[in-house]
Amino acid sequence: MRCGRLVLLLTIVNVNAGCLDQIVPLHERVEEPQVQRMLSQRTFEGSGFLPVGQAAFDSDLEPDKKVTMFVSRAAVAAYSAVSPEADATSGPAFPIGGVIVRDVSDASGAPTGLTVMVKREPGYFPEAGDFFFGVTDLAGVPVNGEDGVEWGALASCATCHHTRAAAGYLFGVPQSAR
Ligand code: HEC
Repeated sequence: MRCGRLVLLLTIVNVNAGCLDQIVPLHERVEEPQVQRMLSQRTFEGSGFLPVGQAAFDSDLEPDKKVTMFVSRAAVAAYSAVSPEADATSGPAFPIGGVIVRDVSDASGAPTGLTVMVKREPGYFPEAGDFFFGVTDLAGVPVNGEDGVEWGALASCATCHHTRAAAGYLFGVPQSAR
């Protein structure tokens, strides 16, 4: 009997482990540990996400870097409708739970780190479109910035992204990199 229970328990644990490997569920409140797991396990390269734009296009923000944008499927239409050439988006609203991972590499193509934005519930961070912001190293571990750990409702990120309010607080992929 006890052995039977143990097998059952292990089965449940395994099922759960499988779930953790999957993408952040869409249209649901996204918890931060889930986001960190998604980055550390690089599940954003899996089937729940799509790259938007070319791989490793030149970053406007960091001229010596290249970026690839991975977007959770439910948010692809909203993100694709945004581009830095336009001040506003006419695309659909960015869905709650939608994720954008900005995968950063150096000029030689060697990966250097990750930045992420996740749409949270209304009221989470109104100054920046209720986006959660994070910066991690290659292992998906949040890095320390001047104002502490770069993980959360970060004013340092809002300063720029807030200027893009009419475009959903996003910059998007330039037409030249589509
Ligand atoms: C100085 C302005 C500026 C600041 C500050 C800034 N960003 Fe951005 N961000 C940009 C630009 C420009 C892009 C377009 C991609 C590029 O040029 O690399 C971008 C793109 C992004 C994207 C892809 C989604 C999009 O808007 O297209 C993510 C994710 C992101 N930034 C996260 C962050 C995080 C996290 C912080 C704070 C640590 C931050 N950004 C701070 C200018 C900024």
